[in-house]
Amino acid sequence: MDSAIEAVAEALAGATSVVVLTGAGISAESGLRTFRETMEGLWKDFDPMTLATPEAWEADPEKVSRWYDWRRLGCLAADPNPGHVALAQMESRLNARGGRFTLLTQNVDRLHHKAGSRNIVELHGSIIQWRCTVCGAKTTPGPESLPKFPPPATCCAASHRGLLRPDVVWFGEMLPEEALAAASEAVATCDLFLSIGTSSIVQPAASYILWAARRGAETVEINTEPTPISDTVDWSIMGKSGEALPNLVRAAFAG
Ligand code: OAD
Repeated sequence: MDSAIEAVAEALAGATSVVVLTGAGISAESGLRTFRETMEGLWKDFDPMTLATPEAWEADPEKVSRWYDWRRLGCLAADPNPGHVALAQMESRLNARGGRFTLLTQNVDRLHHKAGSRNIVELHGSIIQWRCTVCGAKTTPGPESLPKFPPPATCCAASHRGLLRPDVVWFGEMLPEEALAAASEAVATCDLFLSIGTSSIVQPAASYILWAARRGAETVEINTEPTPISDTVDWSIMGKSGEALPNLVRAAFAG
């Protein structure tokens, strides 16, 4: 077995409080494109960075809501892969022996929920839920395409011309306060931090591992490519999370 996996398995076996941060890479093996990959089909000429902003929504809510609805349907159709499943197993094995596990995710696809993870902090919200632009009421649309773009919010449509927008964090927006508080508390007390399938360039998520390291936590990265944090972590596992994570969980909790 890879010597980095063996070393991380040993750290995991002895850890009492583990924080895992995931990014789009963990869902790549479920068939969902990562944020920085080019888009396909109808959307191939659009840059995600220009659609995921409040300015884009103000300028063209029809286009932005159509794009998010297309992505929502893709997420609903996707299944968790062995990487997601291994993280759910890691949590239950740690909890069974009184340990603590917190999963911070930048992903909006809800695949960690589908895989059975429980203590999840959604840093960037969820694409599966939408919310009223006037009163903030949340709604979970069904598995078919929304009937109208931009979608009217039934709660406030008549009186205030409310629209439904995806319940995600756009560039330039604040992260949800409860998510920030839960993440800070977990990072402040962890003894092992794993960063998985993220390019580690979007703040504040990218800084959590540096903060954990400064506090003395051991740090791990699992990614198919080097990132800005690769040289600073204790162990860098270069490979697919859907392969590395099941190996790691097997090695840490065997027997
Ligand atoms: P990115 O698309 O920036 O990065 C995905 C990372 O996953 C890259 O570093 C890839 O090398 C890695 N990767 C790809 N396949 C992998 C696999 N099978 N196993 C392991 N790693 C793999 O996605 P994020 O880092 O999640 O924010 O992006 C962070 C945030 O930036 C997103 O949440 C989104 C985006 O702009 C907002 O929308 C606010």
